[in-house]
Amino acid sequence: MWMTACFIFSPPLHLSLFLHIIGSLVAGGLPPIYTLVDFITVNCGYSGNLFNKSDNRNWTGDIDSEFSPLERLGANSTSLVREAPPSSTVIQVPYATVRISRSEFTYIFPVTSGQKLIRLHFYPVSYADFDRSEALFSVKAGGYTLLKDFNVSAIADASRVEMPYKEFCVNIGEEKSLNITFASSRASPDSYVFINGIEIVSIPTNLYYSPAQSHWIEYIGGQINYTIENSTALEMVHRINIGGSPLSSNQDTGMYRNWDADDDVYLDDLSSRFSVIPSNTRIQLKFFSIPNYTAPSEVYQSGRSMGTNKTINKSYNLTWDFPVDSKFHYLVRLHFCEFQNQITSSGDRTFQIYIANQSADQDADIIQWSGGNGDTSLQRTTLCLCLTPPELEARK
Ligand SMILES: *[C@@H]1O[C@H](CO)[C@@H](O)[C@H](O)[C@H]1NC(C)=O
Ligand SMILES: *[C@@H]1O[C@H](CO)[C@@H](O)[C@H](O)[C@H]1NC(C)=O
Ligand SMILES: *[C@@H]1O[C@H](CO)[C@@H](O)[C@H](O)[C@H]1NC(C)=O
Ligand SMILES: *[C@@H]1O[C@H](CO)[C@@H](O)[C@H](O)[C@H]1NC(C)=O
Ligand SMILES: *[C@@H]1O[C@H](CO)[C@@H](O)[C@H](O)[C@H]1NC(C)=O
Ligand SMILES: *[C@@H]1O[C@H](CO)[C@@H](O)[C@H](O)[C@H]1NC(C)=O
Ligand SMILES: *[C@@H]1O[C@H](CO)[C@@H](O)[C@H](O)[C@H]1NC(C)=O
Ligand SMILES: *[C@@H]1O[C@H](CO)[C@@H](O)[C@H](O)[C@H]1NC(C)=O
Ligand SMILES: *[C@@H]1O[C@H](CO)[C@@H](O)[C@H](O)[C@H]1NC(C)=O
Ligand SMILES: *[C@@H]1O[C@H](CO)[C@@H](O)[C@H](O)[C@H]1NC(C)=O
Ligand SMILES: *[C@@H]1O[C@H](CO)[C@@H](O)[C@H](O)[C@H]1NC(C)=O
Ligand SMILES: *[C@@H]1O[C@H](CO)[C@@H](O)[C@H](O)[C@H]1NC(C)=O
Repeated sequence: MWMTACFIFSPPLHLSLFLHIIGSLVAGGLPPIYTLVDFITVNCGYSGNLFNKSDNRNWTGDIDSEFSPLERLGANSTSLVREAPPSSTVIQVPYATVRISRSEFTYIFPVTSGQKLIRLHFYPVSYADFDRSEALFSVKAGGYTLLKDFNVSAIADASRVEMPYKEFCVNIGEEKSLNITFASSRASPDSYVFINGIEIVSIPTNLYYSPAQSHWIEYIGGQINYTIENSTALEMVHRINIGGSPLSSNQDTGMYRNWDADDDVYLDDLSSRFSVIPSNTRIQLKFFSIPNYTAPSEVYQSGRSMGTNKTINKSYNLTWDFPVDSKFHYLVRLHFCEFQNQITSSGDRTFQIYIANQSADQDADIIQWSGGNGDTSLQRTTLCLCLTPPELEARK
């Protein structure tokens, strides 16, 4: 079995997590499968436009531009701009400059109605008179608190990522504008807020949300089905290309999503030792049950399987450990593509799926799911609630 993971959470109450296992049809040079309706890239603390060669995008400065933020009336201090300190590594767009404030500021973005991804890019270093460890802030957008008392240097240190980003999904209604407010935390007197880059991209309707009255998502371990409504905001927690290379934003199907590799970071010991990573770049992908923009083809053309030694593959569970916060709902999307030539009939490879130790599928069979019509690209979506251990005990 192989999969790709993307986890999403929702600030109001629900956290959803997606696991993806997929493949589709983008290759270098070809136009993206999904064409963006909204496409905003802001290089905070910069004046003018800068082109980022690696993601092929033009980043617009927020100084004296249509994207200049509003300051809160009556605030003691207004926001400032700073440059990143000189560094041995080459600092690219949009990390070389920053907008920073001990108070708050708001960006007002003109956007169309519909579902959007918001990406916030941070480079947590000390900016002149602003010490790295004192950044502590909240971010609100469209009525949701996306981040609260957020300590980005702690996140960067814990995940060993120099330039972390946060990705959210929100629905824009008739208001056709999106306000994003950055405010320093009141929890600490020296706190300040900063932001290096902001992206807003449209996504196809119901890529992550449920259509009205259909596609109910099964709630693991519960007797209920669930919908992700437009009033929910989601946060991406993990998006993984299982068994393949990391895919950068310009290798996505058009939404500039990053796909990480599954590597040994997430795999448990037995899975690292015994699992195998087949791939098939020649498979002709067919999308019948899901749209072709769901994930890049590379995602479907590689995978991780339990191996073909029956003694061994029955003796362990292929297990990924994804760190998540407790008390949120997670939407898990698993993407599958049966591309191994040895597996042709239903029953050739069957397995069970457990999420957070609860059974999500007792009789998974990719060929059977395809319904015999040659559908290569399949998706299973489930929802689970990650409780703190004591509550989990209590539920058992
Ligand atoms: C970036 O945007 C500016 C202003 O919209 C435009 O003049 C410039 O040609 C663009 N550059 C590239 C490389 O697309
Ligand atoms: C504004 O600045 C004054 C003097 O520095 C300080 O006493 C006051 O608490 C500040 N107000 C806010 C809202 O930060
Ligand atoms: C372009 O932006 C991406 C992230 O948005 C960053 O990882 C990369 O370093 C940048 N590359 C260049 C050439 O500016
Ligand atoms: C959610 O909003 C989108 C547009 O933003 C709309 O097309 C869709 O029908 C809405 N879904 C529901 C269930 O109302
Ligand atoms: C942020 O986290 C770091 C590392 O855990 C800590 O040293 C720092 O004091 C924190 N900053 C604030 C303002 O809480
Ligand atoms: C965004 O902020 C502006 C200025 O405060 C306000 O006029 C507008 O109604 C806000 N838009 C939304 C969607 O909240
Ligand atoms: C949940 O949805 C599945 C698939 O649509 C359906 O088979 C099942 O009966 C539903 N369960 C409930 C409790 O509504
Ligand atoms: C993706 O699917 C759409 C709709 O079915 C189709 O029009 C388009 O040609 C497909 N794109 C690719 C690259 O296959
Ligand atoms: C385990 O190995 C057997 C024998 O090769 C094979 O038939 C079966 O599909 C494998 N199971 C999984 C889950 O890969
Ligand atoms: C399967 O693995 C077991 C345990 O490592 C080994 O003894 C056996 O020879 C292997 N079978 C095959 C067909 O490779
Ligand atoms: C695999 O995980 C399930 C659910 O946690 C457990 O019941 C089962 O015993 C495990 N199997 C093995 C071989 O570890
Ligand atoms: C799943 O079960 C394992 C082994 O019993 C345990 O270590 C782990 O904490 C459990 N995970 C969850 C999310 O309950």
